[in-house]
Amino acid sequence: MVKIKISEDIFWVGIVDWDVRDFHGYLTEHGTTYNAYLIVDEKTALVDTVKYPFHEELVEKINEIIGLEQLDYIVINHVEMDHSSALPYIIKEAKNAKIVASKKGKESLTKHYGENLAIEAVKTGDRLKLGKRTLTFIEAPMLHWPDSMFTYVVEDAILMPNDAFGQHLATSARFDDEVDEALLMREAAKYYANILMPLSELVKSKIQEIIDMKIPIRIIAPSHGVIWRSNPVKIVEAYRRWSEGVPKDKAVIVYDSMWGSTAMMARAIADGIASQGVEVKFFKLRESDVTEIVTEILEAKAVVVGSPTLNNSMFPAVSAFLTYVTGLKPKGKLWAFFGSYGWGGGAVKQMMEITKKAGFEVYESPLEVRYVPTSSEIKECLNFGRSIAQKMKSY
Ligand code: FEO
Repeated sequence: MVKIKISEDIFWVGIVDWDVRDFHGYLTEHGTTYNAYLIVDEKTALVDTVKYPFHEELVEKINEIIGLEQLDYIVINHVEMDHSSALPYIIKEAKNAKIVASKKGKESLTKHYGENLAIEAVKTGDRLKLGKRTLTFIEAPMLHWPDSMFTYVVEDAILMPNDAFGQHLATSARFDDEVDEALLMREAAKYYANILMPLSELVKSKIQEIIDMKIPIRIIAPSHGVIWRSNPVKIVEAYRRWSEGVPKDKAVIVYDSMWGSTAMMARAIADGIASQGVEVKFFKLRESDVTEIVTEILEAKAVVVGSPTLNNSMFPAVSAFLTYVTGLKPKGKLWAFFGSYGWGGGAVKQMMEITKKAGFEVYESPLEVRYVPTSSEIKECLNFGRSIAQKMKSY
């Protein structure tokens, strides 16, 4: 097995999960990695473990470098099981290792793996001397679990922030300068949009807190995907932009359709928006991945949602989408609604109610068409699109 160094005596001992495509509902079309890092000094420390099916591979990697029984510390930055579930196996052989976690991490580890673990709780600013190297801990509650924390290797200026700055990207490359930049930033944006977007205020303040600490950061080594070594500032700036909700001149149309009427409306609305020089992304829900849609919404100024009325309600695919997206709380966007109906209607009203309740800014002039749109109603759809594009200019 090839030893992968990220710095002198600091090794990547993670796992590449090439096959995973459904990560608790998140479509990981490029797989993922579970990154763990081994620091070898007078004392040795493993920072994070991996998902349990890969525990033997992790043990093998550690054994090639130091021998598992030589491990002195296991730092658990985050208890979610993609990073901690190999711990019970590791600790069986690493009998002398002390587990280090945040206070919430200690509680959560105990709840996951039982009372018998010896865990030392640490807080922001606590230091752990390994020899030439020192680890410092930075609690990061709700980024994205209450237990989350970052580990900073002082002498090497390496930040190990666990999930933050990660990407679900399985690759034989370990570093940002070894992969396609557009793909990397796309996967980083997808990760932010689907995992961290509802926590944007906390992301913003945590970035500021780290800037205020004035610590040099040469490398950012997250727990998923590649390691940022060529330009770590690039991903920090992207996180700052995403957390502030800075949008681009882009509208996302999301709809579903039963007999094609809502689809006709969607196409005409797209033409109306595009006629004003605004980029349009277009998704039919049952033929699209919601993870991908949310990635497009991250930097959009407007989201235009269409649904036919079924049993006086929204179409089920639209309902599922709105449940997901209201939970993610995208900021600073205009939400507009349209749809077709046969007799009573109800979908548009329901969509507006749900999004207003979630605190979204809703365009108060929705568009509804009975049965199949006529040519004059298609013109109304074009005008509806133009009005949305005009309204977007004030964003
Ligand atoms: Fe990658 Fe929150 O676990």
